Amino acid sequence: MTETTEVRALEVRGLTAGYGAMAVIHDVTLSVGHGEIVGLLGRNGAGKTTTLMAIAGFLGRCEGEVKVDDVRLRGPAYKRSRGQVGIVLEGRSVFPSLTVANNLELAGADRDEALELFPELRPKLALRAGVLSGGEQQMLALARTVCRHPAVMLIDELSFGLAPTVCERLLARLRHVAETTRVGVLLVEQGIHYAASVADRVLIMNEGLIRAEMPGAELAEREDEIERIYLGGLDDAA
Ligand SMILES: Nc1ncnc2c1ncn2[C@@H]1O[C@H](COP(=O)(O)OP(=O)(O)OP(=O)(O)O)[C@@H](O)[C@H]1O
Ligand SMILES: [Mg+2]
Repeated sequence: MTETTEVRALEVRGLTAGYGAMAVIHDVTLSVGHGEIVGLLGRNGAGKTTTLMAIAGFLGRCEGEVKVDDVRLRGPAYKRSRGQVGIVLEGRSVFPSLTVANNLELAGADRDEALELFPELRPKLALRAGVLSGGEQQMLALARTVCRHPAVMLIDELSFGLAPTVCERLLARLRHVAETTRVGVLLVEQGIHYAASVADRVLIMNEGLIRAEMPGAELAEREDEIERIYLGGLDDAA
């Protein structure tokens, strides 16, 4: 019988990275399939943002391997070909003084495609991005990134500072985007219940190590275990 090996949108092996001489994440191995949303959870300072930055090539000190669509990425971000990895960092990744239309244009996003994925933006096209609500700004940030057709999107705290109903709508929209465009998503999320609602799979990180992995659907029932990992209890890592 021949075994078919599915090409993953993102494959990370043995990634160790940090700032200056200090490693902050250690031997991180993970993968994200096409159309899959993988949540990355952990308490403050666990190393979640550092993991995204290292995958994107923003950190100088980095060991390990990062592959996108089976092609190894090398060197710093600015030397890599644009478009393989989309990144939406904490805070609003939009130009507040430009209109929504200009924000899309500047990102090289196809406007029709962006509006199909995020119809909420249609009535806002002529407005300055800075006057949009927080949720709408995040939609615009997602639209700017996804319409460049990356194989994988790295997203940091999409829900930060947003009201629960806005978050839920945004995450449902992200789910729809992953399903329709088949982009793989690595999503850093603080809220366990948000991750449970959107992620196919979840990785729990503490002190720079991936301590556990589970289906998003199991998050709610394993909340005690997750909390112990957050607090540093390693006995639950298995
Ligand atoms: N630029 C930097 N220089 C030195 N150390 C840093 C830098 N950025 C982060 N760190 C340290 O790396 C560790 C991991 O930080 P990181 O930002 O990855 O955590 P996080 O899991 O994203 O946390 P949070 O949930 O608070 O965003 C922390 O101890 C932090 O102090
Ligand atoms: Mg962070």
